[in-house]
Amino acid sequence: MTYVKSLVCRSCFEEYPIEPLNVCEMCFGPLEITYDYESIRKNISRESIEAGPFSVWRYDAFLPVSRENAVDIGTGFTPLTKAENLGSRLGLNNLYIKNDSVNPTFSFKDRPVTVTATKALEFGFDVLACVSTGNLMGSVAAHGAKAGMKTIVFFPENLEQSKQVSASIYGPVMVAVDGNYDQVNRLGSELADNRNWAFVNINMRPFYAEGSKTLGYEIAEQLGWKSPDNCIVPAASGELYTKIWKGLKEFSDVGLINQPSTKMFLAQPQGCSPIVSAYIADQKIVPPVIPDTLAKSLAIGNPASGPFALETISETNGAAVATPEEEIVAGIELLAETEGIFTETAGGVVVSSLKKLAENGDIGPDEVTIIFITGNGLKTQEVVTGGVKLVKTGPTFSEFEDLIGSEANF
Ligand SMILES: Cc1ncc(COP(=O)(O)O)c(C=O)c1O
Ligand SMILES: [Zn+2]
Repeated sequence: MTYVKSLVCRSCFEEYPIEPLNVCEMCFGPLEITYDYESIRKNISRESIEAGPFSVWRYDAFLPVSRENAVDIGTGFTPLTKAENLGSRLGLNNLYIKNDSVNPTFSFKDRPVTVTATKALEFGFDVLACVSTGNLMGSVAAHGAKAGMKTIVFFPENLEQSKQVSASIYGPVMVAVDGNYDQVNRLGSELADNRNWAFVNINMRPFYAEGSKTLGYEIAEQLGWKSPDNCIVPAASGELYTKIWKGLKEFSDVGLINQPSTKMFLAQPQGCSPIVSAYIADQKIVPPVIPDTLAKSLAIGNPASGPFALETISETNGAAVATPEEEIVAGIELLAETEGIFTETAGGVVVSSLKKLAENGDIGPDEVTIIFITGNGLKTQEVVTGGVKLVKTGPTFSEFEDLIGSEANF
């Protein structure tokens, strides 16, 4: 059973029935799913959620599809780990890592995609498609394989080789477009109008967006049914950032947690930071930029949820920070050396932003702070392979001792 009511326009509040539609026919505003929160409040409790599966599907009361029909490859309920070592480096006593890089296709994208693939099957689509900055296409291809659907993925041709391999293994049609993400997205939008395909982040976007709310629910449950003081979230389209906040608010609206006073911090790489620039300039809209960044997963110059991300920043007294390009790899290395977690470039952006926020005193030493590590370093190995330091020796004990042993310093 689901508690879904309708689709509603986020700009003019026009209502629509549940169908594969993402923009309002009256004002072209984005559509969002609404729920019968009264019934959720009556029927759902901490105990009923705790009795559910250890995956995103324990939260299906808050999703547009129910767990019975789920296209499920085991997404969610990822670890929330106390980051003692990184915390002590930065003077933070209550720092946590939400490690979403251990999802089945190694990024948080499995959350939105498991929900969308399920809904796409329910709608009767037999093709699952997406436009991607790298992680989404792997997730779409994997879920399509599980669902027995055909898959076609569109991406900027300059993407990291490991991201391409991580998608192609599942057998999608891989379309490498000579253009940046925003150009790929325009192509996808035209195709979505002309083909009967479930484009997860175009015509299926309202359903897709809902999946990311589960990150908000999970951190609240894992903290013992509490919201944190600070969240630091990487942003490309800004969807993930706004949906983590939506998840926390929904939990509070139905009485599962107290009203959150979480500050939401948004992190972008300097080379593609349109939301940060709009925040600094105190604008309500987000002027597009041409991306030029090492963090290719975050390279969206015209972010669809940019204005809503700005609203979330102001509603939560948060902020938006840009990481200098040359600090992205340092962020990846710092997390690996202190916490044993190998993240991709988006995670490097988050860790560097955390460092800056801690140094500036924007987050307090005892506040509960969560950084969202949303993608796995094995998918962007290119950026760190130059850093492999080798100790070279022959295969015998004496060779090792003569050449290296005394230097090894153990
Ligand atoms: C690893 C990773 N983190 C964060 C994001 C940002 O997601 P959003 O477009 O919802 O802002 C992406 C987007 O592709 C991503 O791949
Ligand atoms: Zn509208």
